[in-house]
Amino acid sequence: MARIMITSAIPYINGIKHLGNLVGSQLPADLFARYCRACGHEVMFICATDEHGTPAELAAAKAGKPVEAYCAEMHEVQAEIARGFRLSFDHFGRSSSQRNHRLTQHFAGVLDAQGLIREVSEKQVYSVDDGRFLPDRYIEGTCPNCGYTSARGDQCDNCTKQLDPTDLINPHSTISGSTNLEVRETKHLYLMQRSLRDKLEAWIDSKTDWPILTTSIAKKWLNDGDGLQDRGITRDLYWGIPVKKGDQPWPGMEGKVFYVWFDAPIEYIAGTAEWADANGLGDDAWERWWRTDKGAADVTYYQFMGKDNVPFHTLSFPATILGSGEPWKMVDYLKSFNYLNYDGGQFSTSRGRGVFMDQALSILPSDYWRWWLLSHAPESSDAEFTWENFQVSVNKDLADVLGNLVSRVTKFAKSKFGETIPAGGSFGPQETALIADLGARIRDYEAHMQAMEVRKAAAELRGIWVVGNEYLQSAAPWTVVKTDPEQAQAMVRLALNLIRIYAILSQPFIPDASATMMTALNSDDWSWPGDVHAAIRALPAGHGFAVPENLFRKITDEERADWQMRFAGIRT
Ligand code: MF3
Ligand code: ZN
Repeated sequence: MARIMITSAIPYINGIKHLGNLVGSQLPADLFARYCRACGHEVMFICATDEHGTPAELAAAKAGKPVEAYCAEMHEVQAEIARGFRLSFDHFGRSSSQRNHRLTQHFAGVLDAQGLIREVSEKQVYSVDDGRFLPDRYIEGTCPNCGYTSARGDQCDNCTKQLDPTDLINPHSTISGSTNLEVRETKHLYLMQRSLRDKLEAWIDSKTDWPILTTSIAKKWLNDGDGLQDRGITRDLYWGIPVKKGDQPWPGMEGKVFYVWFDAPIEYIAGTAEWADANGLGDDAWERWWRTDKGAADVTYYQFMGKDNVPFHTLSFPATILGSGEPWKMVDYLKSFNYLNYDGGQFSTSRGRGVFMDQALSILPSDYWRWWLLSHAPESSDAEFTWENFQVSVNKDLADVLGNLVSRVTKFAKSKFGETIPAGGSFGPQETALIADLGARIRDYEAHMQAMEVRKAAAELRGIWVVGNEYLQSAAPWTVVKTDPEQAQAMVRLALNLIRIYAILSQPFIPDASATMMTALNSDDWSWPGDVHAAIRALPAGHGFAVPENLFRKITDEERADWQMRFAGIRT
């Protein structure tokens, strides 16, 4: 039994995520966590909401709510949807938790003690009427390039030109509309990542088994152009973690908060501490996952994220950890994903294009989505969701192959032999061949799961379902029963046991259908079928079973057309 820690990139608090976000981090992390647990490993699976920063403040203002209340509400909304998708986090934390406040301030204090923080004076736009410095996105004015009147301080949305707030003509605050703006000096803290460059490079070079995509992104940031830059870790915002040195005030930093990308990854640690708190456990309970001096040396740590997150996880967060000089557990494997596109374009949160997590659950149960998304995960390249493809996958893989096998076998068994597993006959050459094939395929499936090759694992699982169908097709117990009922009983005994094995193997992908299969087989033996010969005989003759409800329904052409229209754009 190994100890495995898994974190998913933590989703921003502002708004409900779309299916592209889901498949790039939380869902594959859940697949892996479920698989590791199924194999009997001790798993710690952490996710959280990423609550700080300008977008959170802006979204709260738009919703007309204090940012604290907005974040608390949106956290509950996201947690509820995560439960709907059966995301099996051990804890779904909040980056605004007191645990994260303390840990973030702790890291800043230690980094400062290590001589890795310097103060930098900058000029920034100050709004006299709002009484605060304005982040670039809080300033609007006329674009000097194209004349667009609602250009933002960082970029013109009309001509895409990158701007500096001081470039704008007639700039005003988007908070109050005030034009009473001044450029003032403000001081910020910078993490001296440059001086950690060699340590980071040595650490990355030690990760010889990382995918090339991951290491090449990290190397590019280490070496390209000016290389690794020192990074500002504070902001003049209201909402965030107050800048402190451990629990001491930081002179000159009053009223400032840490930059969201500084505190967000620390929430992986804080979220584990929140888990301990929520379960009435002491600090030892979370430290044995995170402190190599307190038991975490034998933990294997996996991170899941979209490709845009890779630099933060290969450089910035490791710089925080390495720079601290403290014995924190660092990531062992980093699994990153490309993008999922939507029906000929991109998913777009701002334009409401695509299917969002709440909408998905409102039209079909989570297993349907989990199956499609994971079996089409954007691994080696970007992938695309189309309704046609979704319909075909669901109707074929889930309804025709798996669902049909389960209903056919249980119904036939019940009608011929009653509601217990029949005792007659013994396995012949066809059964022996199937068992051997299954054994080989399960080993292959395990290898793909272990390697986090999500698509390959899905393809092998589908293959495992298919060989069961092919066996039934050629063994044809419904014909054999007429001439050799004993032999038909052996076939049915095998097929019913096969359903239990399918429940176990499929559980990481489609947990609800698996639970239905297991309940129909009147079993709660979820032990992994390491020995397929034993597993196929686990449920003995005389063991009761029931015919379950239909596992999956088909998607009709009308539904497909209707959904395609409904999700084409403009969600408000
Ligand atoms: N919220 C970020 C995003 O969605 C991810 C943060 S991951 C963490 O891109 F490492 F910062 F936690
Ligand atoms: Zn412009």
